[in-house]
Amino acid sequence: MANRYISSQEEMAALREKLSERGKKLVLTNGAFDILHVGHVRYLKEAAALGDCLVVAINGDDSVRELKGPGRPVNTAEERAEMLCALEAVDHVVVFDDRRASGVIEVIHPHIYTKGGDYTPDSLIDEEKQLLDRLGIEIRILSLVPGKSTSATLSNLADNSDRSKRVAILGSGKGSNARAILEAAKEGILGGEVALVLSDVANSGILDVAKEYDVPALAIDPGTKRGGYLTDGALKEILDRLEAANIDLVALAGFMRIVREPLLSAYTGRILNLHPSLLPKYPGLHACEKAIEAGDAESGCTIHLVDAGVDTGKVLRQETVPILPGDTTDTLQTRIQEKEHIAYPEVIRERLENQTG
Ligand code: GAR
Repeated sequence: MANRYISSQEEMAALREKLSERGKKLVLTNGAFDILHVGHVRYLKEAAALGDCLVVAINGDDSVRELKGPGRPVNTAEERAEMLCALEAVDHVVVFDDRRASGVIEVIHPHIYTKGGDYTPDSLIDEEKQLLDRLGIEIRILSLVPGKSTSATLSNLADNSDRSKRVAILGSGKGSNARAILEAAKEGILGGEVALVLSDVANSGILDVAKEYDVPALAIDPGTKRGGYLTDGALKEILDRLEAANIDLVALAGFMRIVREPLLSAYTGRILNLHPSLLPKYPGLHACEKAIEAGDAESGCTIHLVDAGVDTGKVLRQETVPILPGDTTDTLQTRIQEKEHIAYPEVIRERLENQTG
């Protein structure tokens, strides 16, 4: 940051002189630039394109507080300067302590002064306007990106932290785990609400369970036969539905498909799966059958994060059950599911509690 950060009036004046000698145009803008967002990035790019050197003058912490109220700035002047210095469009950053930019305009004496589209040349305060006119500085009002401002960003964050977390359940089967999760939500012990249930099987029980609880339920055409990979179109539809429903956490409950991109990146660390074995034993299909065939003394269920592999993600919880003499796949699965129905809602609650934003 050192060589882009201007710390004295002399340095500013020297920069202006050097550029003028070389016939270069200096562009100046100013503001708080408290929480950088894409609106800032585009605005600064546009400002930089007007000349050869862009100087951003940022209000010091006291003047931001005075202008924007207590609680602002969220980032100190030093931090804001460091972030701005990291942007390609920005050549230099200077911090000024006055509420108004007149002083800094006078010292820097840019060729062009830019403001965002919430200003018009007429809405610039008189003092600044007169100064700009007197110094022959061109005023350019640049367009802003609608909905992108520090205040809108902060208000979105506040809305998000207040609203209840939203869970989607994806399943292919009868939906006994979905029922356990929905029941926990109804009792208020899930730490969020179930906002969507999706299935790759048109008439699966899980969709009926969702309807019983008045939760939007939809079948997504997987594009391939049962067990096959979901097509890109199906994955996109799932992602669109999740995003449209503002989903925070995805719980796979008997979803017999492999989840892959673009879902994994969109919900990194926020897709859970439930598997009827003590992973890493018996990933994939027929886990109960394999445990019985192997003569194991015990089996159980695993709740884990989903990654690009098949049942390979980080394990969050395992519950063990004994395998009894004479057990069939069905009897073992029933015993495992009793544990699943208790453990899965608990793990979902823990994940929602630890999830920020
Ligand atoms: C669950 O027991 C779960 O462990 C298993 O499907 C069942 C779904 O039952 N998942 C897998 O086998 C994943 N490979 P449900 O529809 O009654 O919740």
